[in-house]
Amino acid sequence: MAIQWFPGHMNAAKKKAAEQMADVDVVIEVVDARLPEASTNPLVEELRKFRAKPCLKVLNKIDLADPDATAAWVRYFEQDDAVTAYAMTTKKPADVARVIDKARALAPHRGVPTKPLRLMIMGIPNVGKSTLMNALLKRRVAKVGDEPAVTKTQQKIYLDKNTAIIDTPGLLWPKIAMPSDGLALAASHAIGANALIEEEVAEWLAGELLRRYPQLLAARYGFKTAEMDAIAVVEGLAQKRGYRIRGGDWDYEKASHMLLQDYRSGALGRISLETPETRAAALAAFTEA
Ligand code: G4P
Repeated sequence: MAIQWFPGHMNAAKKKAAEQMADVDVVIEVVDARLPEASTNPLVEELRKFRAKPCLKVLNKIDLADPDATAAWVRYFEQDDAVTAYAMTTKKPADVARVIDKARALAPHRGVPTKPLRLMIMGIPNVGKSTLMNALLKRRVAKVGDEPAVTKTQQKIYLDKNTAIIDTPGLLWPKIAMPSDGLALAASHAIGANALIEEEVAEWLAGELLRRYPQLLAARYGFKTAEMDAIAVVEGLAQKRGYRIRGGDWDYEKASHMLLQDYRSGALGRISLETPETRAAALAAFTEA
């Protein structure tokens, strides 16, 4: 009988996920290409290392991300021998189609009917896991709950006779490492931002855009960004669009919402909120403080 060993600090949810991962050949970890580290769940890395599983790191939503930053992230992630990084968008069927081939290359001993390739798709909310899963399933779906090998607690969905996807475990949210990660995740809609903090998130985003992509702010809104700070960007947007509250003051709430929408939809252009270099610098500053 195999000995089940878990480190003492593993809580019940983690243990369950670690158990499920035991029967997986490749972990497909989906992150948001605009913020690949901030949208990484450290728990996934911890578990896959604990189980010594190869990982296909999918940087999804590249249609929204800065191509240079994405290329730098792919090089960065592939420094880990157990990782293949794949930049893609679920909007392109050809990109989706390559996911299985990439995963198969990480477990060449699997992928035949007697030993199907077993995949698990993991990642934080809103990175595109369901969209990817649905796009993959368009090929062919067969639920195999009535097969003797399949337990009731774990569902396998076969994409074809050689490839199965194991039900993704629900993972708890990790602690967000830096406050700026929380803001980047909220700006990118991975965590909810109510109207009150939407203004804070938009102001933070405006600061990042001024620093990283002033040319995109100039192109979309006609701003002279050299003279602007973050508040001026939000106010400038209210002015451009004529957003006022009763009494005549600028409507920061509406302008904040509009800025976030323009970023999320890609209307502002292809934007990444971190690169390997800026991430390292932010982490260093955070640990020093
Ligand atoms: P999840 O299972 O990881 O939680 O994510 P899900 O598939 O639900 O996708 C979250 C949002 O991201 C969806 O938009 C989805 O259409 C979008 N999305 C997924 N893949 C891509 C991609 O490659 N490019 C772009 N541009 N969008 C993608 P939504 O429901 O409208 O949510 P939101 O964008 O308003 O947050």
